[in-house]
Amino acid sequence: MPSLTHTESWRRLAAHHADIGAVPMRRLFAEDPERGERYRLDAAGLHLDYGKHRITDETLALLAALAHERRLGEWVRRMFAGEPINNSEQRAVLHVALRAASPPREVADTLARMRSFAQALRGGVLRGATGEPITDVVNLGIGGSDLGPRMAERALRRYRAAAPRVHFAANVDPEDLNATLAGLRPASTLFIIASKTFTTAETLMNATRASDWLGTQIDKSGLGMHFAAVSTNLQATAAFGIADERVFPMWDWVGGRYSLWSAVGLALMVAVGPAIFDELLAGARDMDEHFHTAPPEANMPALMALLGVWYTNFHGARTHAVLPYAEDLALFPSHLQQLEMESNGKRVDRDGATLDYDTAPILWGSVGTNGQHAFHQLLHQGTHLVPSDFILVREPADPSDNEAHRMLLANALAQSAALMSGRDNSEEPHRHYPGNQPSSTIVLPRLDARSLGALVALYEHKVFVQGVIWGINSFDQWGVELGKTIAQSLLPTLAGQPMPDEIDGSTRALVARLR
Ligand code: F6P
Repeated sequence: MPSLTHTESWRRLAAHHADIGAVPMRRLFAEDPERGERYRLDAAGLHLDYGKHRITDETLALLAALAHERRLGEWVRRMFAGEPINNSEQRAVLHVALRAASPPREVADTLARMRSFAQALRGGVLRGATGEPITDVVNLGIGGSDLGPRMAERALRRYRAAAPRVHFAANVDPEDLNATLAGLRPASTLFIIASKTFTTAETLMNATRASDWLGTQIDKSGLGMHFAAVSTNLQATAAFGIADERVFPMWDWVGGRYSLWSAVGLALMVAVGPAIFDELLAGARDMDEHFHTAPPEANMPALMALLGVWYTNFHGARTHAVLPYAEDLALFPSHLQQLEMESNGKRVDRDGATLDYDTAPILWGSVGTNGQHAFHQLLHQGTHLVPSDFILVREPADPSDNEAHRMLLANALAQSAALMSGRDNSEEPHRHYPGNQPSSTIVLPRLDARSLGALVALYEHKVFVQGVIWGINSFDQWGVELGKTIAQSLLPTLAGQPMPDEIDGSTRALVARLR
């Protein structure tokens, strides 16, 4: 297979970019008034409007040809078939199996165990060592063992049960756990230690501190009744003192950032209940089916991925903004930061060859309308090209909030329209809006578990498609290891031990200042 930049479609896209790259979108609309109707797509209950992009039918055809030339269909088949496409770790990539209509036996068994554990906690049947019902469940995990369930619990907060309350603590900064535990009581608190590897330093430190906190009121022999774990590492969970029947398995074919659907979602299931969790899985499954079967030009994840490639590699865009116009989706950009940047922030291809093109852009964003009063100035008049995704929810959670909800939607539509059209003002340059900032708009019918499942799966598959186009392994994350190693070597140094020789002068001076 030719290298990416030597493919026929890449060369044609480069030539096409030279032709239309500078054409303002306003003109594309003027020349083709139908494009607003044509550039839209429905899948898994979601609606995608992609009219506000620097594209024509020819761009779309060339991007679809690129997907074809990079053998997207074959890679999709390989992923769903469980082939070891994570080649640096020789692992399959099967998060889709976690939400399959007929999941593998071990997945079905684990889901059944999660359901009965969550029901027992919600029903007050599962109690602590002193016989008190559990009123608070704290998820201790970081990265993929935190961001997904934390984001979804926030997104679905209107479905939360009154008890038990669910909390999340991730940071090794002691203030995170301290603040979480303030007001909680050991006798009525249960910790879920979520760690695929059960070796993650931050999570183990928090788990040990949680155990110490419990020990202030609970007898050592009863501590196990205040813990559950989610992990692939049964030896380590046992060594920590968690009985096997309280450990919910994960598998090495589930990447951390794709693990919301596994037992990593246990805290979420406790919060919203098994039925809502099932809806989340069903929404993701709807998107999986669409992704698996639709051709690239009518495939929502593939289209979003290809548009991203168009901006990153042909227009030189360095960042991508995600702007949910939904307060309950406030944590969605953080979840996507790990999903996209840990998956596709890579500089070598699957065989280790250095790439001569850019990969994942820097993803950022926050809820609208708050962002409008903060960073949108840069989107409207700054110097950077920033493609963005507007995420809108059609129905308000409460019909009596219609008026405020309409204001929210009007703002979202106004922003994407203004970013696209701009407004000329040559008299007063500071009031000139160049426009031509591209955006997609994704519309959810309502913010429920089914739509959320479809939305998260949409971005998972988008990341997959971009990885295929860029020829990288989206499922390892070796880049995070070096910092972990250096942190381990600095720990004794901060406690007063001599400095290892390999530590640089700047870091030496900082250690001296900090100890
Ligand atoms: O260090 C990065 C990472 O490995 C992520 O990929 C992962 O989601 C996170 O750490 C947590 O890992 P674990 O679930 O094994 O504690």
